[in-house]
Amino acid sequence: MAALFDEISFRGMTLKNRIVVSPMCQYQALEDGVSTDWHLVHYGSLAMSGASLVFVEATAVEARGRISTKDLGLYSDDHVSGLLRIVDFGHSQGTMMGIQLNHAGRKADVDGPIVAPSSVRFSEKYAIPEAMTEEDIEEAVQAFASAAKRSVAAGFDVIEIHAAHGYLLNQFLSPLSNRRSDAYGGSVENRLRFPLQVVSAIRAVIPSTMPLFLRVSAVEYVDNGYSMAEMVQFCRGFRDAGVDLVDVSTGGNVPVMPSAVYPGYQIAPAAQIRREADICVGGVGMLDNVELSEYLVQSGQVDLVSVARGFLRNKTWGHDAAIALHRPIHPPKPYTRAYPQH
Ligand SMILES: Cc1cc2nc3c(=O)[nH]c(=O)nc-3n(C[C@H](O)[C@H](O)[C@H](O)COP(=O)(O)O)c2cc1C
Repeated sequence: MAALFDEISFRGMTLKNRIVVSPMCQYQALEDGVSTDWHLVHYGSLAMSGASLVFVEATAVEARGRISTKDLGLYSDDHVSGLLRIVDFGHSQGTMMGIQLNHAGRKADVDGPIVAPSSVRFSEKYAIPEAMTEEDIEEAVQAFASAAKRSVAAGFDVIEIHAAHGYLLNQFLSPLSNRRSDAYGGSVENRLRFPLQVVSAIRAVIPSTMPLFLRVSAVEYVDNGYSMAEMVQFCRGFRDAGVDLVDVSTGGNVPVMPSAVYPGYQIAPAAQIRREADICVGGVGMLDNVELSEYLVQSGQVDLVSVARGFLRNKTWGHDAAIALHRPIHPPKPYTRAYPQH
């Protein structure tokens, strides 16, 4: 039986526990996607939090795929050095560093035209996107691959592909946003085609020792979206293409919220994907309750626990969790006098 403070390995990366800092957009980058002191201090402090792995926020693979003009980018070699500094600091603290790669598709908020699988906007507050040509699709696949190469150059230990929250890959998966009648729309296999091309293109350019995660929105919260059975099929496809863990979130492709949110509200689909797609999963959603997180790992529902807002409120949540569970803690060396009993 695994526990929250047990190690786990994905390919060549060993995590010292199951606690992950979930990706969180900061909207603090310079207008051209370059990181700032904010990112160094923010991610640096999270690397001292007791989490084994810290994810850097959704980072744009194409300028026109930015959620906002303050997004981090990895669409130019100029983006690498700032991220490398953040990763080096994380490593100096014994923490693994990951990056989430994203294309916002129809949810991009940038000047100029935006693209999506079909010319269907997210809501009236968003621009009407242009339907992607096959050339656009190929360019986007290559943009993900180039950003993945730069992630390796920046020293990241793991990449997470963002296929959740209504961004481009999610838009292709869902019949609500993908109305195409070519090889990229219609059947499960066709809707999965572009996301799988992204997975394969990234796998082809990163070391075989480097793990690849992928975040999905397992549930759409409306009746005419994809079903859970389809989601399981998508995840089997991701697994076979070289994804090592599916990070299971929900919603975001249509402006409909879940009727209730509570600690663990996204765990049922995560556990189902783990069982039925036979792949490791991460759980997320109000999991900054130590006992709940310990239980979710021990009961085999999830392999990793991601915490987002809990880490913004408490930058030592990982150490606090270890103390609560009577496990050894490893605070940053200069802070050890704060923990005399350990
Ligand atoms: C400020 C903020 C920014 C976020 N940005 C991202 C992001 O870049 N990528 C992503 O997949 N999820 C993002 N999320 C969602 C979180 O990763 C997480 O899934 C969600 O907040 C639920 O976890 P929590 O209850 O621990 O906060 C963001 C959440 C917050 C609060």
